[in-house]
Amino acid sequence: MNNITLMMIKPDGVENGHIGNILEKATSSGFKIKALKLTQLTQQDAEHFYSVHKERPFYIELVAFMTRGPIVAAILEKENAVSDFRTLIGATNPKEAADGTIRKLYATSMGENAVHGSDSDENAAIEAAFHFAKRERF
Ligand code: CMP
Repeated sequence: MNNITLMMIKPDGVENGHIGNILEKATSSGFKIKALKLTQLTQQDAEHFYSVHKERPFYIELVAFMTRGPIVAAILEKENAVSDFRTLIGATNPKEAADGTIRKLYATSMGENAVHGSDSDENAAIEAAFHFAKRERF
């Protein structure tokens, strides 16, 4: 399966009022919204979600950031969703992100970079199941 990705609008994106802009950017770029919610990660959720980064120096900061307020989670559908969405969001560091990308437009720093996109089809399926029950997926 290569047609879905899991997006999160991170706490900075929500706090800065960019939910509408980011959803519009996704849908006008050809992504269909298959699931959508405003939610907040618990400490346990964030530690689990980012466990791949647990040895990294920014891990504690990352978990604190991702739990500090609500996020928007969405399943987005499109051919080649994972790679096309990562192109649309741009580089992790907004200073290196291409013009017109979501991070260039809305991210403020390397850590607070407005949006998450799955990095593989396998992780997209895992992350989608983490956030959404079957009855919430369309
Ligand atoms: P993302 O690529 O969505 O998932 C991992 C996150 O870790 C990344 O976004 C950033 O939010 C954060 N991150 C990555 N590198 C750094 C860093 N050098 N300093 C702080 N946060 C980082």
